[in-house]
Amino acid sequence: SKGGFDHFMIKEINEQPHGIKETLSRRLDESGKIKLDDIKLTKEDLEKINKVYIVACGTAYHAGLVGKYAIEKFAKIPVETDIASEFRYRDPFVDENTLLIVVSQSGETADTLAALKEARAKGARILAITNVVGSSIAREADDVFYTWAGPEVAVASTKAYTTQLVSLYMIALDFAFKKGTITEEAYRQTIKELELTSDKVQEIIDNSDKIEKVAEGIKDAQNAFYLGRGLDYYLAMEGALKIKEISYMHAEAFAAGELKHGTIALIEENTPVIAIASQDYLFEKMISNMKEVKARGAFVIALAKEGNKEVEKAADKVIYIPKVSDILSSILTVVPLQILSYYVAVKRGCDVDKPRNLAKSVTVE
Ligand code: M6R
Repeated sequence: SKGGFDHFMIKEINEQPHGIKETLSRRLDESGKIKLDDIKLTKEDLEKINKVYIVACGTAYHAGLVGKYAIEKFAKIPVETDIASEFRYRDPFVDENTLLIVVSQSGETADTLAALKEARAKGARILAITNVVGSSIAREADDVFYTWAGPEVAVASTKAYTTQLVSLYMIALDFAFKKGTITEEAYRQTIKELELTSDKVQEIIDNSDKIEKVAEGIKDAQNAFYLGRGLDYYLAMEGALKIKEISYMHAEAFAAGELKHGTIALIEENTPVIAIASQDYLFEKMISNMKEVKARGAFVIALAKEGNKEVEKAADKVIYIPKVSDILSSILTVVPLQILSYYVAVKRGCDVDKPRNLAKSVTVE
């Protein structure tokens, strides 16, 4: 049941603080350290691994892009994130020293399952992140990390994504701790910060009415562009997918630094540009990009961390997220993007939970 909500999607958006908490707390021991009982990879196994592939489709792929950042930053292992339908057909360089992480909410996505089998045949070790206990992908993997999002009904993935992010951060931190590539202090500090994200997500949800107003302002647009740098580029991809999927508004994500290499030609009077600026070290760069598109007539909606008031000079509307470190920002940044898509779809009269032409799990090629 929708538990009093108009749609499953908004119900599931609201369930994210709980999903984040569950996914985390089930793997923290009394001393606050991560214990991944369900993952049998030892320190010795990890020493052997010289490459990680993260392979998935759609929203799960976008989570995998953030996972690349986290694993490279914390565990210092090179990571490549790939789309399952590409990976499976391109004869990827995989051997016994490769770890393949597959990410799939349903655990039944045909291309992801095929990619798993392809990599396993070449000797890779397989770690699955999935939301469905006993799913095909869970059964075929060597190790399984379950997200505790609870059943996701809406076709548009929301709470599965945030719990996938938490899972990937935990895996990255655990690997780093085992390998000694993170100090104990930084490790503990990051886990504490991860624990705080659920309340911060709640705070964003509690302020949904502001985001609904922003949705009202762009609901009739034909095109929207999402810009970001670093991690925010991956969030731009997820934001654009979400709005396309449920509201049928054309949207594209761009790495903000690519603007002047062609993209900026698309900007017209009143084109909505959602500019994500959650990375402190890239903040000034994003401000310049916002000014560039605004000067060409764009209607700029910025996402920034509380306190970064300077953004107001470069944007028409600002949605603030609570303060968070750059590396963990993804868990917060996605939430306003989900809420914005939801309200645009509702205002356009779309079938939010069951968008046309789509199925919840894609079990055929
Ligand atoms: O069940 P999976 O996580 O393997 O599904 C992957 C994609 O089909 C899925 O994330 C899809 O992109 C969503 N509908 C996006 O909201």
